[in-house]
Amino acid sequence: MQDKILEILRRKNEYASGEEISESLKISRQALWKHIQELRDSGYDIVAVPHLGYQLAASPDKLLPAEIKHNLGTKLIAKNISFFDAVPSTNDVALNMGIEGAPEGTVVVAETQTKGKGRLGRSWSSPKHKGIYFSLILRPKISPAQSPVITLLVSSSICEAIKEVCGVEAKIKWPNDILLQNKKLGGILTEISAETDRVHFLVIGVGLNVNNEKNLSLPQAISLKEVTQEHVSRLNLMQEILRRIEQDYLTFQKEGSSAVINRWREYNSTLGKRVKVTSDNGHLEGIAVDIDSDGGLLIRNDAGLIRKVMAGDVTHCR
Ligand code: BTN
Repeated sequence: MQDKILEILRRKNEYASGEEISESLKISRQALWKHIQELRDSGYDIVAVPHLGYQLAASPDKLLPAEIKHNLGTKLIAKNISFFDAVPSTNDVALNMGIEGAPEGTVVVAETQTKGKGRLGRSWSSPKHKGIYFSLILRPKISPAQSPVITLLVSSSICEAIKEVCGVEAKIKWPNDILLQNKKLGGILTEISAETDRVHFLVIGVGLNVNNEKNLSLPQAISLKEVTQEHVSRLNLMQEILRRIEQDYLTFQKEGSSAVINRWREYNSTLGKRVKVTSDNGHLEGIAVDIDSDGGLLIRNDAGLIRKVMAGDVTHCR
């Protein structure tokens, strides 16, 4: 109902009378007043003038579902959005929603996470109102072995969106660290529910440092604001990321993984470099020569042999 009230106030762009709104939504004036109060509590500045009605003066700088959906224009992604002011981890919420049958494209977004999860068991710092923290549920018809390609897809979509909204060229360090000036701007944690040869659903968790101030205790991290020297609209950026993911996902469904891999190559900063990969299987050092169709990194070791790694922590040696 609140979404519908906002839609009317936005459409009108001037005062909308209480009578007009309550009639068109078939609710009482009292119920309308209650919804207006709730919208105000979530940060909307709604002016009420006797005999004139209500006007939307300002929207909050929050990633609220109604704001994200406004002018988004997607057909699949973010039709269904769950918002939390604070949550332990959006990935955990999305995993539960996935098990309960949430539709493909469902987004879980939070203003802060108290137990944000990073890759390889690390934590993800999620200061309130500063970054973008969301998880997306996808149900691609693929095998679990192909799922890393979807993470590569999302990392490219993020770089495209950053370029469009902020005009800066973020790069991807294999598999999906988003870098700016060789420092970590964001990351993706994909979790999977699957049987041996079929994915039930993927939860793709995205964390991005947007308006964070310089964090001296995390010298290897960077935010968009630090680079652009300007406050970045988290809302515009999040919307553009969702639009790009939808486009790239449709391309993947039509053309398969080669389209994703080619796009990833454009943004990667790993190929051609000497790298050290640390994984559960130990260390591997060599030149990152290419990426395989399943998203694995192909490394030529010093003996000239090509080895493939599917997961791990990469250090660029030079
Ligand atoms: C990484 O280590 O690079 C991945 C970081 C992923 C963080 C995001 S924030 C939203 C989602 N929820 C989580 O708990 N983690 C992911």
